[in-house]
Amino acid sequence: MPEVDSSKKEKEYYEDVPQEAPGFFLKGAGNVDWGMKNRLSRIFNPETGRTVMLAIDHGYFQGPTTGLERIDLSIVPLMPYADALMLTRGVLRTMVPASLTKPIVMRCSGGPSILKELSNEHLAVDIEDAIRMNVSAITLQVFIGGEFESRSVRNMTRLVDMGLRYGIPVMAVTAVGKDMVRDARYFRLACRICAELGAQFIKCYYVDEGFRTVTSSCPVPIVMAGGKKIAELDALTMAYNAIQQGASGVDMGRNIFQSEAPKAMIQAVRKVVHENMKPKEALNLYETLKNEQEKARG
Ligand code: R5P
Repeated sequence: MPEVDSSKKEKEYYEDVPQEAPGFFLKGAGNVDWGMKNRLSRIFNPETGRTVMLAIDHGYFQGPTTGLERIDLSIVPLMPYADALMLTRGVLRTMVPASLTKPIVMRCSGGPSILKELSNEHLAVDIEDAIRMNVSAITLQVFIGGEFESRSVRNMTRLVDMGLRYGIPVMAVTAVGKDMVRDARYFRLACRICAELGAQFIKCYYVDEGFRTVTSSCPVPIVMAGGKKIAELDALTMAYNAIQQGASGVDMGRNIFQSEAPKAMIQAVRKVVHENMKPKEALNLYETLKNEQEKARG
């Protein structure tokens, strides 16, 4: 067992040298099977290598979250604007029309509610059900440093093994405990552990200092987590910075569906992600679309 890495030598992340991706457009996926590559190509646009995922899985631990009280009314109309949807099987079966062909990233962990210790999760879906529902990826939280760290890592490696059996990629969500510092050092640790243990892509929060070291030291794509609702310009700036520093897209929930104009917001986020639109320009687009939509409603 090696000791803790206490080397005084400065780490070298080669932040300006993109990792090569021979044989496929996404880093780290060159050696996976055709089925997995095909599913990844449904989630990540092969032309830009990026994705705008809409996260609406919050109910699995916190019930009817603000903005998600009626997914059929408020969220289904947003779905055509997303590249992929992150949700639970309950919402998928009960509220999402089966005619929708957007790729699904299905939450497969659960257990504790907000009233309990959140890291005490289990796998909560059989791979057969994920296959039955034709999902493009399966996902769960990984609580590095959390009380039940080891169990959540084991959940992930089991999910990765099940996914590999059928060609379904796993997205690991780096879940930061209440008392943990959200910094680049923590996310380098968490993302790298998830990638080394087999996750095909990772959801991770943006940090102002050193985010590029997180993306460059992680051998698989990272999608930026949205987090709690902030002002539209700040959310667009965060997405822009993450993309410019190597993120392969975003997986945003509250900053889209809790926005005053969710449809306008998701379209602005798309421009930032797929077309490198600058945050202020994207905000102008948001305002314009918002006004048009208000006018159309009368
Ligand atoms: C848990 O942490 C889940 O990943 C969330 O339910 C969700 O995906 C978070 O999305 P956001 O922070 O963008 O609202």
